[in-house]
Amino acid sequence: MLKFGNLELDVPFFQAPLSGYTDRAMRVLAKEFGSPLSFTGVLLDKIALHAGAVRKLGLAPLDDEHPVGAQILGADPIKMTSAAAHFEKIGFDMIDLNFACPAPKVLRRGRGGAMLNDPDTIREIFRRVRDCVKYPVTMKLRIGHGNGSENREKFWQICENAVEDGCDGLVIHGRTVLERYRGESNWQILAEVKRKFPQMTIVGSGDMFEAATIVKRLNESGIDGVLIARGAIGNPWLFTELRAIFEGKDDYQPPTLAEQGKVILRHYEMIAERLYGIKGIRYFRKFAVGYCKRHPERKKAQMAIISVRNRDQVYAVVREWFGVE
Ligand SMILES: Cc1cc2nc3c(=O)[nH]c(=O)nc-3n(C[C@H](O)[C@H](O)[C@H](O)COP(=O)(O)O)c2cc1C
Repeated sequence: MLKFGNLELDVPFFQAPLSGYTDRAMRVLAKEFGSPLSFTGVLLDKIALHAGAVRKLGLAPLDDEHPVGAQILGADPIKMTSAAAHFEKIGFDMIDLNFACPAPKVLRRGRGGAMLNDPDTIREIFRRVRDCVKYPVTMKLRIGHGNGSENREKFWQICENAVEDGCDGLVIHGRTVLERYRGESNWQILAEVKRKFPQMTIVGSGDMFEAATIVKRLNESGIDGVLIARGAIGNPWLFTELRAIFEGKDDYQPPTLAEQGKVILRHYEMIAERLYGIKGIRYFRKFAVGYCKRHPERKKAQMAIISVRNRDQVYAVVREWFGVE
């Protein structure tokens, strides 16, 4: 149904790369709840090359996570190629080249979304990576650096080059780099990309929070798949709901509070395996806030959960607010 080179997915959606979120815990849950593929957060090429850093960050995928893609960021064709080769060697199933990140510190160094102004270097990076690795290679783009006509021309040039050079898929966030997360993702342009390049796998991104909107966007745009990004933070059930829709089942039931509570505790335990003590607690809080979003007393539940300081308090708050036995 959704195809990146020789990697085939049975449903047209998957867990997006989310820096600071898509660690092993979130990837395992995404898979368990129905995502057919997940990603690491983006990693700078030179860090990806550093075996010690990769080990320390616990990046290499474990057996129960596959398929899992890695994503790298950089402007130097040689370093990007070596990083892609390293990730193939340590067991990732595909590599995505990030030319989309809008973070100011990334843009200042001419990386991520800044690269959209330089189609020739993107092309060189892609061709070198493509020549060096066997696993699927995709690119993450935004629809231009800004909204000017020159920006848009460069965007089209990058897409055209990618098709010519045998890219395995374009993952496109329908905002410009300058827009960051403001306004709405432009799904007309995503549809236009697919019309122009029907042979290329096109995955769209932007504002994918509700199953009904996701299905509507997919149907209207004609693209091949969508990324589930912020919508999956604290809501792995979105994958279950989507999977039920695409498998033609009408048996999806939203989780009860107690079911949600159990998953929150499991998520916490997986985090705590890697990050001890207060570090793990601090990191867990942002997920916990996400899990509380659909709680009937959202604000109060969020206040309670962000005040936790140790494991006992995590359990006490989840028991109180989610009714876990
Ligand atoms: C906290 C956060 C971290 C992100 N990290 C990455 C990343 O590492 N790599 C990437 O390609 N996109 C990253 N994104 C962008 C998302 O993958 C996605 O394209 C974007 O959030 C739009 O989708 P959404 O509106 O459905 O969330 C990140 C977004 C957020 C909010």
